[in-house]
Amino acid sequence: MKFLAINSSYRENGLNSKMIDILKSEFEKSGHLLDILLLKEYKIKTCEACLLEDLKKCTPERCYSLGDDFEFIAKKMQGSDGLIFATPVHWYAPSALMWNLIERMTSLENTRNKIIQGKPVAVISAAAEDGSQSAITNIIVPLIHMGLFVLPFGMTYYSGKDEDRETEEYLKRIVRNMIFFSSQKGIKEHSWW
Ligand SMILES: Cc1cc2nc3c(=O)[nH]c(=O)nc-3n(C[C@H](O)[C@H](O)[C@H](O)COP(=O)(O)O)c2cc1C
Repeated sequence: MKFLAINSSYRENGLNSKMIDILKSEFEKSGHLLDILLLKEYKIKTCEACLLEDLKKCTPERCYSLGDDFEFIAKKMQGSDGLIFATPVHWYAPSALMWNLIERMTSLENTRNKIIQGKPVAVISAAAEDGSQSAITNIIVPLIHMGLFVLPFGMTYYSGKDEDRETEEYLKRIVRNMIFFSSQKGIKEHSWW
């Protein structure tokens, strides 16, 4: 199977990348792949709020026609068996890059299609000190509303300090549970809406 990590860090080799490297090696040990997208390398315009004009105008096709990299990222998500959202904590919240993507993902959920619906997801976060829980919660709530399946124990955070020594165990658990969930029959076909 093939999984996707979306890293909204502004650094190539920060703590989020370190966590994603652990995830990648765990997926590979089990014979699976992890694609990694560093969001800052892609151009994603801000949401144009088409749905405020007319709910029916907020569609993937219209969002793809804005002429940026959103279609590429959405199709990567669609083609993956599970997703990991990784964000730095910026003022107790996810990074602006992550939030911009979540706003654009409105077009994927508005039509209640199966582009991302029913996919397992985990959210990880890096901070210098405080704020990971609020940043992670901010992401998890819209993802649930978009029809994704947040895994049991599907979150962890890291600040590079000793007290976060359990992070690696949580990352391994995310990989194990995501592989288990994705291999269950009927999950992808089921209509969750
Ligand atoms: C604009 C900005 C705001 C930040 N706000 C917080 C914060 O509220 N709490 C915190 O602990 N760290 C904060 N940080 C530090 C980052 O979360 C931390 O360095 C993290 O490791 C960055 O992710 P990365 O290592 O994947 O690049 C902030 C950093 C930036 C650039």
